[in-house]
Amino acid sequence: MAALVIYFSQTGTTKAAAEKIAGLKKADLVEIKPERPYEMSYGKTVLTSMKEIFTKARPELAMEIPDVQKYDRLMIGFPVWCGAAPNVVLTLLDALDLNGKHAAVFTTSGATKPTKLAVKLKKMYPEARWHKPLNANGVTEEEIRNWM
Ligand SMILES: Cc1cc2nc3c(=O)[nH]c(=O)nc-3n(C[C@H](O)[C@H](O)[C@H](O)COP(=O)(O)O)c2cc1C
Repeated sequence: MAALVIYFSQTGTTKAAAEKIAGLKKADLVEIKPERPYEMSYGKTVLTSMKEIFTKARPELAMEIPDVQKYDRLMIGFPVWCGAAPNVVLTLLDALDLNGKHAAVFTTSGATKPTKLAVKLKKMYPEARWHKPLNANGVTEEEIRNWM
């Protein structure tokens, strides 16, 4: 089964997890790049993120939309922002044909686990076949191998 890891990362933590997962799962790797990078302080990013959540924003992307036709497994990674997925991740998910795809989320965070936001994503994109999310904070190779 061909697999694709799609990730967003502001400060590199999720990027490192995404690279580890892609390596172990022999998956291709695509980074989600917003047109306006979140190159700002923690406090400013929190405000921007809260505004985007409240307005259901879909920030523009500066990347090609990956062709997911050739993949049957999608692993989608991002930092937890204000208890949710950063809205730029939703911009990309809106643009993908998720119908029938095996999909799962992995997150990094200060402490928040991905369970609740994975439930939200499942409701937003019911056309995908969602698997258990992975908390990628300090994740081990064995946990990655046993996931999905
Ligand atoms: C805007 C913003 C909101 C955040 N909200 C949360 C949160 O709700 N819960 C949490 O545990 N960590 C939160 N964090 C911490 C990040 O999820 C954490 O540092 C993450 O690993 C960063 O990943 P990155 O290096 O890939 O960007 C937040 C960080 C930022 C910048």
